[in-house]
Parts: sequence; structure tokens; C-alpha cells
Amino acid sequence: MTAQSKLENLKVEALSKMQAASSSQALYNVKVEFLGKNGLLTEIMKEMASLSKEEKPAFGKSVNEVKQALEQAYEGFETALKAKEIEEKMNSEEVDLTLPGFTRPRGSVHPVHLVINEIYSIMSRLGYAIRQGPLIELDSYNFEALNIPADHPARDMQDTFFIDKTHVLRTHTSPIQIHSLESEKPPLRIIGTGAVFRCDSDISHLPHFHQIEGMCVDRKVSMGDLKGTISFFVKEFFGGDLKTRFRPSFFPFTEPSAEVDCTCPICKGKGCSMCKHTGWIEIGGCGLINPKVLAHAQVKYPEWQGFAFGFGIERMAIIKYGVDDIRLFPENDLRFLRQFEM
Ligand code: PHE
Repeated sequence: MTAQSKLENLKVEALSKMQAASSSQALYNVKVEFLGKNGLLTEIMKEMASLSKEEKPAFGKSVNEVKQALEQAYEGFETALKAKEIEEKMNSEEVDLTLPGFTRPRGSVHPVHLVINEIYSIMSRLGYAIRQGPLIELDSYNFEALNIPADHPARDMQDTFFIDKTHVLRTHTSPIQIHSLESEKPPLRIIGTGAVFRCDSDISHLPHFHQIEGMCVDRKVSMGDLKGTISFFVKEFFGGDLKTRFRPSFFPFTEPSAEVDCTCPICKGKGCSMCKHTGWIEIGGCGLINPKVLAHAQVKYPEWQGFAFGFGIERMAIIKYGVDDIRLFPENDLRFLRQFEM
């Protein structure tokens, strides 16, 4: 048999095998058998050796033509077989529309924001408006305008994250008071919340936490107004049976000043590591605005007087939800966060 007729036979055989293939996999196997790297078409090239110089080019051309024809045939059969297979699969498989679907996990409000939202809702009922301030503050807003002189221990490198000589990450929300005093005219009732930063970290302190700042400036403002406002706020926020106490304290920007404590929710006042065995948890400070602060912001005293308070939001969340480690708030462990889903 001549090389040419062997080639013809091979083509016929390949085509009939392709036609007989009953699945796309079987068809592929035929392709490999004939057109693969070590397939029969490669094999037949060896016939070249026995051909004369004149016959070689014609034979090479024929081999290429057969190869192309087979590839084309393969594609045609493959398309048809694949379509048939999909059709069969669709007919044989059933879709059970009664199966429950996949529920996508939904995010929920972080407990810190739950507290912030509730603070807004309580204080707006008392006529307080919401204000914000920058996280990166000028030293003058974070300290100077609040009557914290350059040598005050609160400015110590241990407490404050300094950005450069004049900028700090705000260590409290009290600079919001100054922004408001400078840009608005009294009477003022404002509330501000947000992140604050301190070089501090243990079971009851975080380097990055949140505060709420409240300020009221009006014609006549007394310590009684302050206590009344805070007592109302604490009662609304925590519910009836929690005790609050005011302890005399010191802040450069308030005079007189007090600290506000609530009964420790973990030990109910008996004493535990959370409350450092005092039975009380401090939620923040307050006082009548120091006239020096008002003067610095060009607000006339005693025509205008004011009170201010600043509470730690994570502290408030701890008390409200009975959380025993403040570090759970920034960790964002889903097992913790899911307990606050509504
Ligand atoms: N800024 C104070 C602090 O961070 C809290 C405070 C606010 C005290 C307003 C008095 C008045 O500790």
C-alpha cells in the first residue's frame, strides 16, 4: 500500500470513529489517538523516509490537509455532543424548589455605635444638637484652649500620641467644645461623640476608644443643672436600678469638677477586678466650664455660663451589656458582635 493510500485509510477510519463516539470524552479519546502528539498522524509521517524527493512535498501537504479536515470534523462533532450532553443533564436532574436557600450573613451595628445612637436619641430629647470634630487636633484645641498648660501631666508623652510639634491624635472629645464655642453663638446645647487616642492599654483601658462630650452654655447654669442632666441621661440609658455617684475631682477646663461613677455591673457593687475592687465603675468627668475656657473662645462670662461632661462609650457599653473585658470591643470577634444583633 502506498503512503498516500495509508493516509486515506487513516482519514476514513478517524472520521468513522469520531462519528461513532457517543460522548464528548470518547470523542476526545479518538482525537488523541489520531491527532495527539504520539498519535497515528504523527506515526504516518515516518512514511516520508520511503518516498522519493519528488513525492515528499505532495505527501506532506496531504498530511496537513487530513489533519485540518480531522480537526474541523472534531469541532463539529464536539459541539453537537456537548449540546446533547447538557440537554440530557437538564432532563435527568431535578431542581427541588422547596429546598431552603442559603442565607447570607448580615452585618449588624457595633455595640459602640449602638451606644452612640442611643445617646443621640436621649440627648436630642433634651434639645442637644450633634457636633463632630477632627481626630487629628491642633495641640491648641486639645490642650491650650482647654486650659491645659504646656507643663500639665496630661500632655506627657505617655498619654498623648503626638503627630508632630503642633498636632496630636485627640486625647478626648473636649476639643469639640472649643470648635462649637468658636463657631456658634450661645445659648448652646451640643453633644459630640467619636474616637479618642491615648498611650494606654489594659483590661479597662484601650489606646483607641470613644467618648461622648456634652456641653450646655446658657445665661444661668449651675451644678444642679449638670447633675440633673447627667442623672436623667444615666437613668434613661441604663434603666432604673443602677446607682450613680458624683465624686469631687479636677479637670483644668471645668471648675468645680466631678467624676461620675456607676455601680459595677459585673459584681453588682461587691468588688471585682473590673472595678478594681471598689464596686464602682467610672464613666467620665464633668463640671462647670472654667471661665478661662470661655474667655479663650471670646464667650463673655458671667453673662454666659456652662457645664460640660465627657463619658467613655466603651465604659458605658460595659456597664449596659455586662461585658467583662474592654478589649473585646476593638477585636471584632464575630462571636462577640453577634450577641448585639437586633
Ligand atoms: N475630657 C475629660 C476626659 O477625657 C472628660 C471631661 C469632659 C471632664 C468634660 C469634664 C468635662 O477625661
